[in-house]
Amino acid sequence: MTATITPLIAGNWKMNGLAASLEEVDKLAILLAGADSLRAEVAICPPATLLAAMSARLATTPILTGGQDCHVQPSGAHTGDISAQMLADAGARLVIVGHSERRQDHGETDELVRGKALAALAAGLTPIICVGETRAERDAGEAEAVVARQLAGSVPDEAAEAGAVIAYEPVWAIGTGLTPTEADIAAMHRAIRRMLVGRFAGAGQGMRILYGGSLKPANARAILAVEEVNGGLVGGASLLSNDFYAIISSA
Ligand code: PGA
Repeated sequence: MTATITPLIAGNWKMNGLAASLEEVDKLAILLAGADSLRAEVAICPPATLLAAMSARLATTPILTGGQDCHVQPSGAHTGDISAQMLADAGARLVIVGHSERRQDHGETDELVRGKALAALAAGLTPIICVGETRAERDAGEAEAVVARQLAGSVPDEAAEAGAVIAYEPVWAIGTGLTPTEADIAAMHRAIRRMLVGRFAGAGQGMRILYGGSLKPANARAILAVEEVNGGLVGGASLLSNDFYAIISSA
């Protein structure tokens, strides 16, 4: 982990969680309050239905909340969609954009993801912009090229100065229990850093690059210690406060 960058551990609840699940974040807040020295910033991105309630509940804690997606427009006739402004109004400080499940399930393109990241910035939210290759792309030796293309297309010019976050999430590692080797994670994170510095110079040096995909208590310490890994985006293991706390403590 790069010493000068404060790591971020963000939980992505995906389409999980009912009102009763808010008890888990109460437990997490108690665990964090009892911890001696935590280096990491912590965030949870619940489903939109829980965002306002969770944000209110965590208002006096260091835990931030975020959305899982946003529309490119601030308002309008877009049934079922949620704008970045609405997320901010509900207490969010961050929003995930371009998650591979959005790219796959909803056909989101790099261009659309860039628009969402811009909408997030306009609403005062920190976008967590996701990139990552499929298994077939990695097997074909194209992982870096795919990630380079996604970064070029999805990350707006304003991103670095505004403190946007990049999340490298190999699609084949998400929810599968599989992870790349530490050497492969290091190689990709170094490559992403090179691309960010190439494009944004000094500001690219300070951007956080998270790793995501089957992060869990058992592998968090090793993965979060990899060079240029500045935190994690955690799906399944963020749903239980004890597991999520164990990952946060590993940072
Ligand atoms: P996972 O999901 O931790 O359940 O693999 C990560 C993510 O999709 O952000």
